[in-house]
Amino acid sequence: LDHFLYRDGHAFCEDVPLATLAEKVGTPAYVYTRATLRRHCREFRRAFAAHPTLPCFAVKANSNLAVLKDILAEGFGADLVSLGELERALAAGARPAELVFSGVGKRPDEIARALRVGLLSFNVESPAELELIATLAGEAGVVAPVALRLNPDIDAKTNEKIATGLYTTKFGLPEGDLPALATRIAQDKRLSLVGLACHIGSQILDIAPLAKAASRLAEQAQTLKTAGHRLSFVNMGGGLGIRYRDEKPPALDDYARALIGAVAPTGLRLLLEPGRVVAGNAGILLARVILVKRTPVRTFIILDAAMNDLIRPSLYDAWHAIEPESTKGTGAEAVCDFVGPVCETGDYLGKERRVKIPAAGDLFMIRGCGAYGASMASQYNTRPRAPEVLVDGDRWQIVRPRETLDDLLGPERAALAEGPLTS
Ligand code: LLP
Repeated sequence: LDHFLYRDGHAFCEDVPLATLAEKVGTPAYVYTRATLRRHCREFRRAFAAHPTLPCFAVKANSNLAVLKDILAEGFGADLVSLGELERALAAGARPAELVFSGVGKRPDEIARALRVGLLSFNVESPAELELIATLAGEAGVVAPVALRLNPDIDAKTNEKIATGLYTTKFGLPEGDLPALATRIAQDKRLSLVGLACHIGSQILDIAPLAKAASRLAEQAQTLKTAGHRLSFVNMGGGLGIRYRDEKPPALDDYARALIGAVAPTGLRLLLEPGRVVAGNAGILLARVILVKRTPVRTFIILDAAMNDLIRPSLYDAWHAIEPESTKGTGAEAVCDFVGPVCETGDYLGKERRVKIPAAGDLFMIRGCGAYGASMASQYNTRPRAPEVLVDGDRWQIVRPRETLDDLLGPERAALAEGPLTS
């Protein structure tokens, strides 16, 4: 259940007609519902209420400051993977003690800044990274809190591009490395081992691999505790899948029960890094039909949104529901491909959809775009990135304006004006 719905045959976001937004903001545009975002945050926290838990929203899923601010206000921390995301979280009012920094390739400047800010932990993914953090902490005269990220070599049974729990991927540390690294940390005054972490993938629909990873992580935490390491948390990452079409993701309560069941015996606080499950179904991409084109074998509905606005169909073969703004269309039903204007055959938003053939100017909403939609958008084909709109009841606000061609061309024009190359 979310807050995109039809009234009298027209699509609304909460109490705002999508047609009104399209007219006032233009298309394509991302539209988010605050009510759904809040509900997802609250349901997530309620599901984990039985155990001390800090959910840290994965900023990569939706990095908009207004969205982050709402999520942080629900008692979430944030999971970051870059300096940019750190600055976003801080700008949105994050508490540094509720921030975790993930990623296999944190740069020295990123680590240095994070050390100055004072995060809850760095999720460490390699011995080389641990050494770098130690050096930079020494230089800064601070103690770096680190969590070792376990790669449990578990198949999360999701799209291979977003599965991260196998040894064939670049993520995490093999189990066998943990004891020696923990000892290494304990002997270094610049480092403090505060926890263990794990994240086996995204859009996971089967609870078994998540439960298995949680048990393995808890087991490792117990071993380290027994060896005298004073951990304060285990971080089970994100990855819970959502329904885009007819998927049956695990219920939040079952997910929580499995994770808490594994972690509770350790007595440690549970950290999580949910992204998609919070934001995914809280947003749509609103697009307008430019024209309809028929070839001998296909009917193409050419939208003003394209793969640069939403790359998930092209990149992961992801399926997003595409629904008309008005159910009152009178066109004949046909099987159509929804595509954008970008010059690639891979530029599609939905294939083989049975719809009433629309007219130029008609609006469609592409569902499930609140996570990994705007945050993955590009300017390919010199298409300015679409704006983001946040709706609350019958009110709305543009929380990121549409980029202009000046935004895109300005810096390059200035470079041209600067004259010839120099050495
Ligand atoms: N923690 C870590 C360390 C991660 O790498 C990720 C996602 C998350 C948490 C959040 O996972 P979530 O709860 O959202 O599944 N662009 C892809 C998804 C990439 C996920 C990358 N890591 C997509 O559009 O499906």
